[in-house]
Amino acid sequence: MDKIVALLDMDYFYAQCEIVKNPVFRGKPVVIVMPSLRENSGAIATCNYEARALKISSGMSLGLAKKLADESTIFINADKKYYEEVSEKVLQIVDSFSENVEQVSIDEAYFDLTNPFGFDKAKETCIKIKQKIKNELGLTCSIGLSVNKVLAKIASSQKKPDGFFTIMPSEIDSFLLKQKISIIPGVGSKTREILEKEKLFLISELNKVQIQRLIELFGEARGIQLYNFSKGIDNRAIVPNREKQQLSRMMTLRKDTRDFEEAKQTIDFLADLVFKEVFKLNKQFKTVSLIIINQNYETITKAKTIPEKILTIDQLKEIEYFLLKSFLDESLSNIRRIGVKVSNFEDDSGFQKKLFDY
Ligand code: TMP
Ligand code: CA
Repeated sequence: MDKIVALLDMDYFYAQCEIVKNPVFRGKPVVIVMPSLRENSGAIATCNYEARALKISSGMSLGLAKKLADESTIFINADKKYYEEVSEKVLQIVDSFSENVEQVSIDEAYFDLTNPFGFDKAKETCIKIKQKIKNELGLTCSIGLSVNKVLAKIASSQKKPDGFFTIMPSEIDSFLLKQKISIIPGVGSKTREILEKEKLFLISELNKVQIQRLIELFGEARGIQLYNFSKGIDNRAIVPNREKQQLSRMMTLRKDTRDFEEAKQTIDFLADLVFKEVFKLNKQFKTVSLIIINQNYETITKAKTIPEKILTIDQLKEIEYFLLKSFLDESLSNIRRIGVKVSNFEDDSGFQKKLFDY
């Protein structure tokens, strides 16, 4: 089964955050400044597309940006703390759709969408993530989808802003053949200069070069990487680095039912799995949810939060039974699929010790 990897990249991130906070800025050139200690100096962190149209760009000095600006241009000092809060909200949305999320910067994350139903399902998920980020936070992002990190990253740059682009396994070769080498992430002006001296401009030219020659030019690690990237090969794994905020397990019943005892058996099984997993993570939780997918494929979620942390598997199960009862009381539908979810995590390093002492 092909791996399915996505890269999410927020559009002109800091500037978008400021526009969400101050909607009157929308449509005007917005430039985010990293102030420096010296009076009236600083560098441009990022800017929106209206400012880019004036030739203002990331990394530019504030002095030059001011020269390029028009009278409607808005300059704002960067507010890193606020952007980090927004970033966390974005990432939590991604976390809720993928078990393996690797955040690579304040506004970029790789995530795994490998699933038995293939790319159609993964595309649907990406579109849901984009919609949720837009509806809940008012922000746009661009997502690239393919079979590995390098291709997902390249795909994400194809339709910016507010883009979504997939490079399917069958399209990799024909897609890469048309591209310039500079589309490969990490190929900057220095690498490009060296390659141009070798008369190499296109990926279709680079991918015919012997690996030995690339190692001579760039050293072993980088040479091998360029060789592989030019062929769309990338074995780097997604290394999850997000603290889990929730954990859930789901299961489809052998047949649809609304029998309490039957549903309870599956809940017991899932609750045992979930409890072991949170225990391994050294987390405790205050919220328990029961997720029901009924025979019409509708999702119904029931949740209960208690003021004290839940300490035992029996407590978890009791709350799940209570939620199941209330579902059966309120709904006439049959249950097709059941999920047990815990969230509202708190760290407790003393917790494991206490249980082991027990
Ligand atoms: P973006 O604006 O291109 O989406 O980049 C993500 C954020 O990273 C951006 O909003 C600010 C920060 N950044 C800098 O601080 N300096 C830079 O040179 C770049 C490219 C980005
Ligand atoms: Ca970005």
